[in-house]
Amino acid sequence: MTLILAIESSCDETACAIIRDGREILSNIVSSQINTHTLYGGVVPEVASRIHVENISTVICEALKESGVTMNEIDAVAYTLGPGLIGSLHVGVMAAKTIAFAFHKPLIPIHHITGHIYANAFVTDLKFPLMALVVSGGHTELVWMKDDYSFEVLGTTVDDAIGEAYDKVARVLGLGYPGGPAIDRLAKEGKADPLYRLPVPKTDGRFDFSFSGLKTAVLQLNDRLKRNGKEVVPADLAYCFQETALGLLTDKTVKAVQEYHPAMLVLAGGVAANSRLRELIVRKTEGLPCETVIPPLKYCTDNAAMIGAAGYAAYRRGAFGTMEDMADPGLMMPGEN
Ligand code: KG4
Ligand code: ZN
Repeated sequence: MTLILAIESSCDETACAIIRDGREILSNIVSSQINTHTLYGGVVPEVASRIHVENISTVICEALKESGVTMNEIDAVAYTLGPGLIGSLHVGVMAAKTIAFAFHKPLIPIHHITGHIYANAFVTDLKFPLMALVVSGGHTELVWMKDDYSFEVLGTTVDDAIGEAYDKVARVLGLGYPGGPAIDRLAKEGKADPLYRLPVPKTDGRFDFSFSGLKTAVLQLNDRLKRNGKEVVPADLAYCFQETALGLLTDKTVKAVQEYHPAMLVLAGGVAANSRLRELIVRKTEGLPCETVIPPLKYCTDNAAMIGAAGYAAYRRGAFGTMEDMADPGLMMPGEN
């Protein structure tokens, strides 16, 4: 039996979890700062770091208490090394190193995105080769995993991440932060309207994405309609934005699946919570010889359990870190240089 204590603090969630053998969650404590950042309309990095400092010790103690596990029983400490906000990451990195030093535990540095992918290990046994569509506030990536804990990025966004586009479009529509869930809800009441037709973004890379032009197109369309004295129906604009963004995302994912023939396709990251994306991916992969897995909502957004699941895969591979590892906001995936 392997017990991993996992820490996540890359953005605005302070989180700690205790995981047994990579897939059993003994505790999963997440302290969200969302109420604070909502006041500013987005995550304020300096404020995020300060709240992490205030909460990290309590969150770790709470995770141990709830699991009934003592620090002596822990086999290794997994933590998010990057990518993310430098100040936020730093708090989790220092906490992990402090525990490792004080209790003589090995360290496992984890790439945040691999955590999002391994969140699916709580749903089912992962099957390889595996294709992951990683969609979050900071990432839009198609990741090919030939084997357990091996990563190749097939495509990525050339500008904004899809979650970022959702958040910015939500701001234009006056929906507040975070914008993704608000657009998800509003778009359900919307309908297709030729007035709101948006350009489908083009990219050179076959599996690359682009969302910046789409976001600007929504902004300009909104301004133009208002200037011309036309009423803007936010639900219809949200619907058209979402259909365009998710159409592009799911079409490229299906193309990658048809070309690479994975045994499993998994969704990962905060935007995987989107109800329309979940619906589209299931529909478009129907009939393909590949199992599609969508994590439950609670594992889509940032948490430490997913870092523990990735940490267990790294642990089995002996992918340990050292005290010299430093928080890295631009960290590459393991094996990607
Ligand atoms: O993975 P995550 O919690 O943090 C990052 O690592 O970025 O993802 C946060 C992102 C935000 O942009 C948020 O607006 C988006 O996920 N999001 C959604 C939904 N729920 C969260 N986007 C679209 N639809 C949703 N239901
Ligand atoms: Zn994330």
